[in-house]
Amino acid sequence: MSGLYRIGVLISGRGSNFKAIAENIKAGYIRNAEIVVVISNRSNAGGLDIARSFGIEALFVDPEGLSRQRYDEQLIKILKQYEVNLVVLAGFMRILTPSFIEAFRDRIVNIHPALLPSFKGLHAQRQALQAGVRFAGATVHFVTEEMDSGPIIVQSVVPVLCGDTEETLSKRILRTEHKIYPYAIKLITEGKLRIENGRVIYDSEELPDGFFAINPTP
Ligand code: GRF
Repeated sequence: MSGLYRIGVLISGRGSNFKAIAENIKAGYIRNAEIVVVISNRSNAGGLDIARSFGIEALFVDPEGLSRQRYDEQLIKILKQYEVNLVVLAGFMRILTPSFIEAFRDRIVNIHPALLPSFKGLHAQRQALQAGVRFAGATVHFVTEEMDSGPIIVQSVVPVLCGDTEETLSKRILRTEHKIYPYAIKLITEGKLRIENGRVIYDSEELPDGFFAINPTP
């Protein structure tokens, strides 16, 4: 796709990933995109205030009394009104219906705090600790009908340290999320990748780095 990407962000909570993306757009790291609307399914989501502080339209769309289908129809309508062509899920705690996925096929991205395909679903960091893995991380991927399963764009790796709690591990992973999510969006909006047979292929001759690792610094 050529032209400016119009991003719609879906959140449910604090919105730190959304903030990292907004900052990177503002700083010119992501050049070919603007966030045109932020939508939350929870009225008290901190991310809505962050959106307003950036001068971005912030909407609460109340799911109360609506079926999943009806709710997603509302979302589609609003996103189309804003002419959104890239949907960014940033801590959006709802499973999207197949109609929603179809409406934005290959144009929805998500971040998950684990090295997919391990530890899908809720409490990924807790699952990693329980499994006793030595490395954890985060994954940015395209969204398909099957939860946490779409084509992988970028991953980050962090060590799991002795004495880690869910909180300390989550914090270490989150620091990398704030780097790889803007990076993935930069790659998409610069047309550097495409999906082929369910996998992401980087298009550029100079291969971008789809991997990011950090040392266990505090
Ligand atoms: C992040 O850990 C993200 O990986 C997961 O939900 C959390 C959202 O955090 N999908 P925030 O709202 O972006 O701060």
